[in-house]
Amino acid sequence: MNDLKWWQKTNVYQVYPKSFLDTTGSGMGDLNGVTEKLDYLNTLGVGAVWLTPVYPSPMVDNGYDIADFTGIDPSYGTMADMERLIAEGKRRGIRMVMDLVYNHSSDKHPWFIDSKSSRDSEHSDWYIWRDAKPDGSAPTNWRSIFGGSAWTWCEARQQYYLHTFAEAQPDLNWENPQVRQALYDAANFWLDKGVGGFRIDAIVYIKKPAEFVDGEPDSDDGMVNIHSMIANTPGILDFLHEFKEKVFQGHDIFTVAEANGIEPEDLDKWVGEKGVFDMLFEFSHMNLEFPHGELWSQATGYSPAIIPRLKQVLSASQFATAQNGWYPIFFENHDQMRCVNHYFPFTADRILAAKAVAVMLMTLRGTPFIYEGQELGLANVAWGSIENYNDISSHGQYDLALAEGKTPAEALDIVHRYSRDNARTPMQWTRGKNAGFTTGTPWLPVHEDFRQQCVETEALDEDSVLSFYRRMARLRLYGEAAGVLQQGDYTELLPEHPSIMAFKRRFGCRSVYTLINFTDRAEFYDLPELTGAKLLAETIPDSAHGSLRPWESVIYIKETGEAI
Ligand code: GLC
Repeated sequence: MNDLKWWQKTNVYQVYPKSFLDTTGSGMGDLNGVTEKLDYLNTLGVGAVWLTPVYPSPMVDNGYDIADFTGIDPSYGTMADMERLIAEGKRRGIRMVMDLVYNHSSDKHPWFIDSKSSRDSEHSDWYIWRDAKPDGSAPTNWRSIFGGSAWTWCEARQQYYLHTFAEAQPDLNWENPQVRQALYDAANFWLDKGVGGFRIDAIVYIKKPAEFVDGEPDSDDGMVNIHSMIANTPGILDFLHEFKEKVFQGHDIFTVAEANGIEPEDLDKWVGEKGVFDMLFEFSHMNLEFPHGELWSQATGYSPAIIPRLKQVLSASQFATAQNGWYPIFFENHDQMRCVNHYFPFTADRILAAKAVAVMLMTLRGTPFIYEGQELGLANVAWGSIENYNDISSHGQYDLALAEGKTPAEALDIVHRYSRDNARTPMQWTRGKNAGFTTGTPWLPVHEDFRQQCVETEALDEDSVLSFYRRMARLRLYGEAAGVLQQGDYTELLPEHPSIMAFKRRFGCRSVYTLINFTDRAEFYDLPELTGAKLLAETIPDSAHGSLRPWESVIYIKETGEAI
């Protein structure tokens, strides 16, 4: 029907394996749990699964601290389980996408253990080592992304090592060609296993500046966020082109890189034919409450004012990726709060809010990425104490909030909103014990709402969020609107409207219109071109042209008569 690549005409589902399905009673999900649910994923039109890291790891950052780039952590299963998952997925048209975490390794990786042992070790130069300042303090005032200094002292070497993230995640030295080759070899190992692509973690940090200098402090701790000092350092693209040439090129896979802070005008260097990757996760629509990388304690929280901004940044991304590359549409991942809390106030109708996001996800131009539990309409959690939180960044940001003068109650409120654990609670399968996630003790508490919001309950209810996602997946992939939704161009409508997001997709002689009301009021609009359009989907029965009820979304299709 069209000449798009396979990954441009399917849905991708992100699995956080630790929280997906436990088949052993350990309290943690595993690979066999993913294999068991492949048929479930088929009902959502999923053609690829992005697995967050399943490699051997001390789990300081839940697998993003990797101790062996070509192994499987025993808590997730064995390499044979992984091979079976890849094979069973292929039988159902679902390909596995591995997460490549190549900015850093675990401090328990044999490379780092050797590197820190002495300045003369074989891997001495595989990480980023610097001498102390003359007074013995850290080489620079950079704050790691999880809080605290980005430098940790090593007695054996009498030097500091750099870590953009946690102390247990030392940054690899990409300047060393042996390091780069070892990383490419690991990625090729997974290609040989038959994976369908890669999500590349934190890639904007791999190139470090030639000189390490102090930055202007951005908080009372006297430090500056390392992101502003090292992200997208010139020269990074040389490394990435080599990466493409040695790994991705010539394979029928897709690559999507996590790239906070790439500007639209630089997109052509990063994606598409002349660029490196197929898609970039950029975060302009995720960082609305901290647009300049502010600390959680400095973020604005929800306000209706984010809606015009959301419209604006999404449109900008749609236009930018129409010129170069392809857009990965996403509103949740394992680092973000749940989308129903993100774009809607606490008082919103949660089901309508979840469906509104489904409408955006399935009608924008790009490849939709569904994050586990999003299709059930899961919401944030709010636990009673910081001790209940597992997420390392929640602890770091809590401490920073206290240091900024917030009370413990205020700091906890901030964690409630932004904690990455919001997205990491166990997947809700059944109304039974632990939502059917485990027969043991879940590593993170199951959300208290699980009886109403779980696959078992929602699959039986035509009006549930899950049933809506399934209908939307069919709409996107098959049927009269599929060609437009996959290949059509994008035009923003009602750009000045403060509460309604509206856009048109057009391909050949068909147009599809999306309209979403982000408020608790009835909202009106004037769109003469909708005359004669046919309703394709609605989130409240009996929708009418010209107005939207609170939180309502609608999709129309229209034959325009003339092909373009
Ligand atoms: C990325 C991951 C996040 C992880 C970090 C360090 O941002 O998405 O979960 O903590 O990189 O690897």
